[in-house]
Amino acid sequence: MANGLLLPAFAAVSLVLRQFVPVVAGFQRPQDLVALLDSDLAGAVGGGLASGLLALVTTPIILRMLGVVSRTTLYALAEFENPLLKQIAAKTPGTWAHSLAMANMADMAANAIRADALLVRVGAYYHDLGKSVQPEYFIENQEGKNPHDGLAPEVSADAIFSHVTEGVKLARRHKLPEAVVEFIYTHHGNGLLEYFWHKNMAAGNPKGLREEDFCYPGVPPQRPETAILALCDAVEAASRTLKDPDLDKVRQLVRQIVFTKLDQGMLNESGLTIPELQKIGQSLVETLRSSFHVRVKYPWQREEEAREASAPAAKAPAPAPAPAAASAPVVEEVIPLAAKKREKPKEAPTPVPPAPGEDPAWARGSAERPRMVTMPLGGRRPDDPTGPSRK
Ligand SMILES: [Fe+2]
Ligand SMILES: [Fe+2]
Repeated sequence: MANGLLLPAFAAVSLVLRQFVPVVAGFQRPQDLVALLDSDLAGAVGGGLASGLLALVTTPIILRMLGVVSRTTLYALAEFENPLLKQIAAKTPGTWAHSLAMANMADMAANAIRADALLVRVGAYYHDLGKSVQPEYFIENQEGKNPHDGLAPEVSADAIFSHVTEGVKLARRHKLPEAVVEFIYTHHGNGLLEYFWHKNMAAGNPKGLREEDFCYPGVPPQRPETAILALCDAVEAASRTLKDPDLDKVRQLVRQIVFTKLDQGMLNESGLTIPELQKIGQSLVETLRSSFHVRVKYPWQREEEAREASAPAAKAPAPAPAPAAASAPVVEEVIPLAAKKREKPKEAPTPVPPAPGEDPAWARGSAERPRMVTMPLGGRRPDDPTGPSRK
């Protein structure tokens, strides 16, 4: 019924307009369109619409060319409902907890030097994405058995390295912006995986591997944001090894990590200045200090402590020292791999270099050192499509 009335009403209005508007405006009908296009009103409305459309189409292209990620994209990536973040949280809960702790540290540190805090936060969420491919090879996700126990050091190293190469592949497959992918291949830089290098040397380096064979397949941070994340990654992992942390211990830890990264040249291309590094260090100390703040002890905790303190006194006087053979077996302390202290093997034989032009065994893959299922050959090689790429 309503539709039936609309048509005649529209016809009547158009008839009136056709008769009177040209007369009132003084236009001749064939020139109406030209006059309309020439009017200021049409220019304002049409120009606004056209420029809006043009900006809508060209902005993503220009941002991509400049390597900049829009705020909208970053906020979308920081949503915990994002499928990739859900994958990290579900498959690698330990890594996810580490990433969340890092995100807060990195956010504060970035604000301290006026870097892009939101970009760093998003980088922190995704930096260990590759661990979700083989979670069991990373100590924070292990429950009981450690698969590295039965592996040669170089095979273990491959498993660890694969979280960088697989992370890059996964991120690019899911069309993450390149500025976010950059956090994946720079957070370890091309540094040495010390734990397994020293394990290899302590075993006598039977395959004659080189130090380079135990270096991460990445590049050092190329901008302040990625450098902040690399520092936070090392500090967060190492802070978990602190026993009874206090301000001095935290300060010492942060200093040691910042100086080591500087000494290794890992910050040379980041664009960070020394005053900025100082501010970042102070911010990291402050964030860690507040995360380790002391809580008031519950009564049952006090009772437990009192019981433990009185336990030795209650025991019978210590007998003569037991013979060495009867002493308890030494249990190796479980600590994050990245935080293992540098220990030189007592007697390391000189490594046998591979023949000229020959690839190291780990890059070829062999019966003794099979490639990890998900580790592409030579992540650092220029011909590797999954390797780091920068404009
Ligand atoms: Fe990592
Ligand atoms: Fe990490």
